[in-house]
Amino acid sequence: MRLSFGILTVLLAGVSISASTGGPYKRQNATSPPGYAVLEPPLTTDWTYKVGTNPWPEYPRPLLERLDWKNLNGVWQYRNASNGDITSPPFGTDLGKPVLVPFCLESGLSGVKADYAVWSWYRTVFDVPSSWTKGNRVLLNFGAVDYHATVWVNQRQVGSNVGGYWSFTIDITDALTTNGTNELIVHVYDPTDYFDDVQIPIGKQTVRPSHIFYTPCSGIWQTVWLESAPANYITDLVVNADMHGNVNVTATSSGNASIPVEVTVYETNSTDVKFTATGRTNSQFKFRVEDIEMWAPSTPVLYNIAVKMGNDIIKSYTGFRTISRAVIDGVQRPLLNGEFMFQFGTLDQGYWPDGLYTPPSREAMEYDLNTLKNIGYNMLRKHIKVEPALFYQSCDRLGLLVFQDMPSLRTQVPIPVNQDCKFKPVINTSVTDEFGRQLEILIKQHRSYPSIVTWIIYNEGWGQQVEDYPSGFPEFNFTNIVRNLDPTRLVNAVTGWHDHGASDFHDNHHYPDSQCGTPWYSIESTPHDPSRIAIQGEFGGIGLNVSEEHLWIVPKSVSEINQTYELDDNQQIWNYRAHFLLNELKEQIDVFGFCSGAIWTQTTDVEGEVNGMLTYDRRILRPNLTVWHNDLQAIYDVAHAKGNRTIMMERDMTFDVL
Ligand SMILES: *[C@@H]1O[C@H](CO)[C@@H](O)[C@H](O)[C@H]1NC(C)=O
Ligand SMILES: *[C@@H]1O[C@H](CO)[C@@H](O)[C@H](O)[C@H]1NC(C)=O
Ligand SMILES: *[C@@H]1O[C@H](CO)[C@@H](O)[C@H](O)[C@H]1NC(C)=O
Ligand SMILES: *[C@@H]1O[C@H](CO)[C@@H](O)[C@H](O)[C@H]1NC(C)=O
Ligand SMILES: *[C@@H]1O[C@H](CO)[C@@H](O)[C@H](O)[C@H]1NC(C)=O
Ligand SMILES: *[C@@H]1O[C@H](CO)[C@@H](O)[C@H](O)[C@H]1NC(C)=O
Ligand SMILES: *[C@@H]1O[C@H](CO)[C@@H](O)[C@H](O)[C@H]1NC(C)=O
Ligand SMILES: *[C@@H]1O[C@H](CO)[C@@H](O)[C@H](O)[C@H]1NC(C)=O
Ligand SMILES: *[C@@H]1O[C@H](CO)[C@@H](O)[C@H](O)[C@H]1NC(C)=O
Ligand SMILES: *[C@@H]1O[C@H](CO)[C@@H](O)[C@H](O)[C@H]1NC(C)=O
Ligand SMILES: *[C@@H]1O[C@H](CO)[C@@H](O)[C@H](O)[C@H]1NC(C)=O
Ligand SMILES: *[C@@H]1O[C@H](CO)[C@@H](O)[C@H](O)[C@H]1NC(C)=O
Repeated sequence: MRLSFGILTVLLAGVSISASTGGPYKRQNATSPPGYAVLEPPLTTDWTYKVGTNPWPEYPRPLLERLDWKNLNGVWQYRNASNGDITSPPFGTDLGKPVLVPFCLESGLSGVKADYAVWSWYRTVFDVPSSWTKGNRVLLNFGAVDYHATVWVNQRQVGSNVGGYWSFTIDITDALTTNGTNELIVHVYDPTDYFDDVQIPIGKQTVRPSHIFYTPCSGIWQTVWLESAPANYITDLVVNADMHGNVNVTATSSGNASIPVEVTVYETNSTDVKFTATGRTNSQFKFRVEDIEMWAPSTPVLYNIAVKMGNDIIKSYTGFRTISRAVIDGVQRPLLNGEFMFQFGTLDQGYWPDGLYTPPSREAMEYDLNTLKNIGYNMLRKHIKVEPALFYQSCDRLGLLVFQDMPSLRTQVPIPVNQDCKFKPVINTSVTDEFGRQLEILIKQHRSYPSIVTWIIYNEGWGQQVEDYPSGFPEFNFTNIVRNLDPTRLVNAVTGWHDHGASDFHDNHHYPDSQCGTPWYSIESTPHDPSRIAIQGEFGGIGLNVSEEHLWIVPKSVSEINQTYELDDNQQIWNYRAHFLLNELKEQIDVFGFCSGAIWTQTTDVEGEVNGMLTYDRRILRPNLTVWHNDLQAIYDVAHAKGNRTIMMERDMTFDVL
């Protein structure tokens, strides 16, 4: 079957629709501040000076793609809003300093390299393409702004957002001028961990970097863009497709009426229609596609989708796969497509010496992912950070499973208790409720990526202890909330430390050697729990120092390299030690029989940490690939020989298991 309406053919003519539409933002000469330049970061990558002034030109939201869009990334104006007063925004004022959006203000690529960016003003101007259909809405989208953004268009306050990791959309149609240039002003408040009485999700960011905690990221750090949408448009699309071809779709519309929606699934790499289904907006509908190829890390087959609702037509994609949990030969296992797959990945921080939270480019970002695939990993743990949508699309395309962490609260809260105890690892319920609100956003914004298989709520007790919590432990409540929002994936409530029995995993952290499903365990941990899946949520972490040109040359960071769990003398010894530790993991899988997955620390060096597969500049690869290929294959072989037969379902997952 061929497509019946022209515009869809254009929409689906290739994956590169972003190249043929939108395109780089053409700035007005009059308001472009002069003199943007990269401010030399303490370490560069091969991509630092290739970024230019039209960064991240790709279409930024691949699961909900519209034809008419315009990228606003580029050189904007910046001013330190030192006192935090937002009552008189600097309308019509040159803010004086150029900043390259979307790079964190603290990064060299931003051109600002701020060291205290708590309150900031951003300003730019834009015009709306005259080709955009009159009567349509104009939507302003932010990929992410850390932490609290307030937005004005032509002196009108049009919206705001709280939370440093989430995308948000503002309908600015009514604020636009009809005859020329529009002014966009953004105020950003980002306290990070600067104030003792502010506790927010920050992940690894700190204003006082120290070994395993890194430079903060403030302000706009993901793509800003405009799009044109009909008056009634699709605001959210949830798609779940299982290994049998069953698909669940919920399309939410900006208007609340229930109106018809048409979903078209295309043959892989083709504009030929495979299946068409219809349903209505604002409630889930189901259909089944016959003869599908399943998605898996070794066969990451994706299917393009088009969704039509009234005049709105969007492009998306999905992969058919089933995640579940079962007892196989007496042992709790995570399953992919009905079979136990040992999931082995790295702790993936997503930090860059030139862009901090923002990778310099998609090519750079994919370099890390391809490196992991080449070493033999089938998974990564996205560690207390959330990436731009294009990251997850790359994992979908390349075939890398993702364990997605919720960005954690601060590890410790300062209190003036007494001389001996200046800190306590305890927070209150209002902070926990806000953490929960943002956890729900994490799930809602990411539940349609095939590659994400597991949600992680707490890391090593950070922000987990709540002094006035009504009863029990907060991870039980949050596990229920996550399962209700997304019954199709597994939940790891607590990775490392304070485990109380919640969720699908029992997760050990230990350095450098693993303790995966073993009868012995470390002090912060608990004995192996056979009622849940055993994984080693972190281990490895062995270091190998490198010469200055590959180091983050900040004296404090360099002086803290000696805090690495273990520093080996040279690359041969480092690989010998890695081989030893990987072999030890393999024996634990074999001898004790419970271990179902593991996460090696880590993908790259970060600041004063020198324990990556790659150095922080991505210029040195530490693993001897021959050794690692053999060791990882041996791990997979031993694990899969242990459990490849499904006996019974443990938990009532959404999907059937073969
Ligand atoms: C901007 O400046 C360039 C050269 O400096 C010029 O060619 C171009 O016409 C100017 N554009 C506008 C919109 O003024
Ligand atoms: C902003 O101003 C404050 C003082 O008002 C100063 O401490 C801080 O360093 C400035 N930040 C930047 C990024 O210029
Ligand atoms: C643009 O429109 C505004 C009213 O929306 C008007 O005041 C202004 O004169 C117009 N400017 C031009 C250049 O036409
Ligand atoms: C909870 O903790 C936050 C952060 O420390 C603080 O700002 C807030 O006042 C506290 N709320 C209550 C009710 O104690
Ligand atoms: C749709 O419903 C929500 C809440 O139920 C409301 O906030 C919103 O304004 C409604 N939108 C329209 C277009 O009626
Ligand atoms: C689809 O295209 C991708 C990239 O061009 C290719 O790797 C893949 O093998 C193709 N898949 C099929 C089923 O033809
Ligand atoms: C569970 O979490 C939600 C979201 O943070 C919160 O509103 C609710 O009060 C919590 N329930 C309990 C029992 O703590
Ligand atoms: C690591 O190497 C750097 C530069 O090569 C050196 O300055 C530093 O002292 C070394 N640190 C350790 C712990 O070896
Ligand atoms: C690491 O080196 C610094 C000096 O660079 C020293 O003060 C500190 O005690 C050392 N720490 C360890 C754990 O050896
Ligand atoms: C990598 O390991 C293999 C197998 O032990 C060895 O033959 C080879 O020399 C090593 N390569 C390097 C560069 O050390
Ligand atoms: C699955 O288990 C059977 C024994 O039950 C064994 O013969 C077979 O080799 C195993 N397959 C894999 C892929 O490990
Ligand atoms: C679709 O949702 C129904 C519940 O409404 C559930 O039983 C089914 O397993 C889901 N299927 C998929 C593929 O998500």
